[in-house]
Amino acid sequence: MKKIAVFASGNGSNLQAIIDAVKQGKIKGAEVKVMVSDKKDAYALKRAQNNNIETKIFLPADFSSREDYDRAVVAYLRAMQIDLVVLAGFMRLLTPYFVAAFPNRIMNIHPSLLPAFPGAHGVADALAYGVKVTGCTVHFVDEGMDTGPIILQESLPVYNHDTEESLRQRIQKLEHRLYPHAIALWVQGKIKLEGRRCLIDDK
Ligand code: GAR
Repeated sequence: MKKIAVFASGNGSNLQAIIDAVKQGKIKGAEVKVMVSDKKDAYALKRAQNNNIETKIFLPADFSSREDYDRAVVAYLRAMQIDLVVLAGFMRLLTPYFVAAFPNRIMNIHPSLLPAFPGAHGVADALAYGVKVTGCTVHFVDEGMDTGPIILQESLPVYNHDTEESLRQRIQKLEHRLYPHAIALWVQGKIKLEGRRCLIDDK
């Protein structure tokens, strides 16, 4: 059984989608062992608690540097024997120390078609730029901001009447399908990395 740690700073709708997918047997051979947050009022914490998942809060203010923070997080993940780290709206950049501790075992979801519109405002930036197609990306995390190897992407059209909120809602619908699928592929050993290309064996 692979042990997953989900990291979230906010609402946790992707966390919920992952929990539901595990329950529905869509991610076989894995469990969400812990949910980690950097915010003590993240609604994601409630969702985890409602599903009897252990929660752990690491507050940035309790650490003197980003690396100290990540050293504590990594020590915790090792103690919990975590196999895969899943960032789901975790709004902190990981240090090289963290990334090196879990090589190709950290995933992130981002609300744009990377490499377009990385960063904290992917939906608003795509809308303001005027693209006609956007979407979401699941990728492995490297030391950059949203720059790691792309695992899965899905696109959708941008409409004239879209607002940031309407576009975000449609993107999140895609995310809730795409993220569990990417995790299931990883658990089944179906993602092969060749350079920065993820070759998916989805037979
Ligand atoms: C998701 O839409 C995710 O793509 C985005 O945060 C949202 C979290 O929603 N992540 C980023 O923008 C990362 N740069 P959730 O808390 O409801 O899952």
